[in-house]
Amino acid sequence: PSVSVQDGIIEASLPSGESVTVYLYGATVTSWKSNGQEQLFMSKTAHLDGSKPIRGGIPLVFPTDANPKLCIWQVFGPPPKNHATSSLPQHGFARNSTWEFLGKSSSEAGKGDVAVKLDFGLSHAMLSEEFRKAWPHEFGLVYSVTLTKDALRTSLQVTNEGKENFEFQVLMHTYLAVEDIANVRVKNLESKTYIDKVRNASTHTESSPALAITEETDRVYQGLDPATPIVVSSASDDQPLFSITREALTDVVVWNPWIEKAKGLSDFGPDEAYKNMICVEAGSVSAWQTLEAGDSWEGGQSIKSRL
Ligand code: BG6
Repeated sequence: PSVSVQDGIIEASLPSGESVTVYLYGATVTSWKSNGQEQLFMSKTAHLDGSKPIRGGIPLVFPTDANPKLCIWQVFGPPPKNHATSSLPQHGFARNSTWEFLGKSSSEAGKGDVAVKLDFGLSHAMLSEEFRKAWPHEFGLVYSVTLTKDALRTSLQVTNEGKENFEFQVLMHTYLAVEDIANVRVKNLESKTYIDKVRNASTHTESSPALAITEETDRVYQGLDPATPIVVSSASDDQPLFSITREALTDVVVWNPWIEKAKGLSDFGPDEAYKNMICVEAGSVSAWQTLEAGDSWEGGQSIKSRL
């Protein structure tokens, strides 16, 4: 595998042609090419200069998913008024902090089984003063992006390096590229409970074995078995486009801004691009993970494309 590092952008590729690009800003995966095709959606008007979280690829959400504009707490249980994350921006600070590149490792298990792993780190001392104040915990994050011929894996290790417990949420906010949202179905959500953020954070049970996206969709599915893949498939031929398994991440957010919301997001473009994406976000967001002093937690996702 070859790896290049330039201007805060790390690119890795395999001899078989697959590649991945990661920006140190947010440790955001901005591109994953496999089978000669881009697999991740990137907004044409995304900010790539570190002025705003990157709209596309895989922004990493930590230590909170909270959207102060939504009364989502009413459902997930109110945090204390002075909860440690209450003064952080929506989706936390990981996606708008600059990470460090810790290095690469590659393995060649057998013929065609080449893998390259890129590791990124973020710690309390690396945060801006504003974020350090807003979340005064000593933490260490190691984010690993592993590219193989068949899959892209992203995993996060969180370590509590302080003397007190802290609580966190995490979300791998993956923007999958699709040709036409009308032809997309999301499978393996049937009978699962979800919070509908578009409908006042009300609770529902998924009735569809193959969810179609036909309007603004923003749902937090909870209590999923991480080993059961979420399959994004093509409706016309019932073929899988993506299959996502998780480790220690039992929630999955399904998000598409649809017409009006897409127009309202200044860094989402062109307006019609909502047809070319679906966010399937593996995470742990419906409850808080508590991490005791000295402990580590790890969670991740593995995405296979056009199987
Ligand atoms: C999803 C949330 O994870 O991210 C949505 O469920 C939100 O509510 C979307 O709109 C995009 O968030 P942002 O902060 O990147 O605009």
